[in-house]
Amino acid sequence: MKTTQTITTPPLLVPKCFILSLLFSATLFLFFSLLQPHHHHQPTTEPPPQTQLSGEPDLKIRPGFSSYEAYIQRQLNKTLNPKLRKVWMTRDWDRKIRVFSTFFSGLKQARLLSNDSKALCIGARVGQEVEALKRIGVSDSVGIDLVPYPPLVLKGDFHHQPFNDETFDFEFSNVFDHALYPNKFVDEIERTLKPGGVCVLHVALSRRADKYSANDLYSVGPLKKLFRRSELVHVRTVDGFGLDTEVVFRKKKGI
Ligand SMILES: *[C@@H]1O[C@H](CO)[C@@H](O)[C@H](O)[C@H]1NC(C)=O
Ligand SMILES: *[C@@H]1O[C@H](CO)[C@@H](O)[C@H](O)[C@H]1NC(C)=O
Repeated sequence: MKTTQTITTPPLLVPKCFILSLLFSATLFLFFSLLQPHHHHQPTTEPPPQTQLSGEPDLKIRPGFSSYEAYIQRQLNKTLNPKLRKVWMTRDWDRKIRVFSTFFSGLKQARLLSNDSKALCIGARVGQEVEALKRIGVSDSVGIDLVPYPPLVLKGDFHHQPFNDETFDFEFSNVFDHALYPNKFVDEIERTLKPGGVCVLHVALSRRADKYSANDLYSVGPLKKLFRRSELVHVRTVDGFGLDTEVVFRKKKGI
């Protein structure tokens, strides 16, 4: 009885162990052949950190605009939205003029703006900022936008301002985030400002602006680079309709 058992068991055990070990090594082989390529590829496909840090990480142009025309259409889509326009001209009207008047009065006290300044508001939509300037005594003020709103706002693209060189003493904008070409936006400001003229931008640094924005700005650094012909006057925190930072530049004389 004992012998038969000892004889019969080995033939059964050997194939079992053999199959198990085969399975085990096959699993190991699969495991490593799947893992190896990843280990090998990761360092070569991932860009080195330096590539990610180069360029202008604090100013990013949003992707998705197939052409300048497509970009303009998108901007017009917001500007021509009948519901938004109604809000801008009714509920927003007085509130915005009040807040803008406070901002501009502060700039007057800081001697960055005066009643005699020839002033431009860029991307002014229905022009509350222009009205605010006029109310505090800066009578020679006008705005530009893709859609005109006369008499406060003339038709004009901030990438190609419809004005001669050295026209204005003061320019204000809170639509930097809408610029598809930030360098052109700034070059045009520096072209149409008189030497010694002041540019005041309200920008959002700590939060993303809106779905119509064309760029995202994360620090004042990129602005300092873009304003090549100006010097930084001040940076301060403001509470301006979702925009948190006021950046002021003065165009250098003799450039
Ligand atoms: C804005 O876009 C929407 C959908 O993309 C469209 O239905 C609407 O007519 C557009 N409005 C304007 C004013 O262009
Ligand atoms: C500027 O204009 C305002 C409003 O008309 C007036 O109150 C103020 O006195 C003027 N300031 C100067 C310095 O003329």
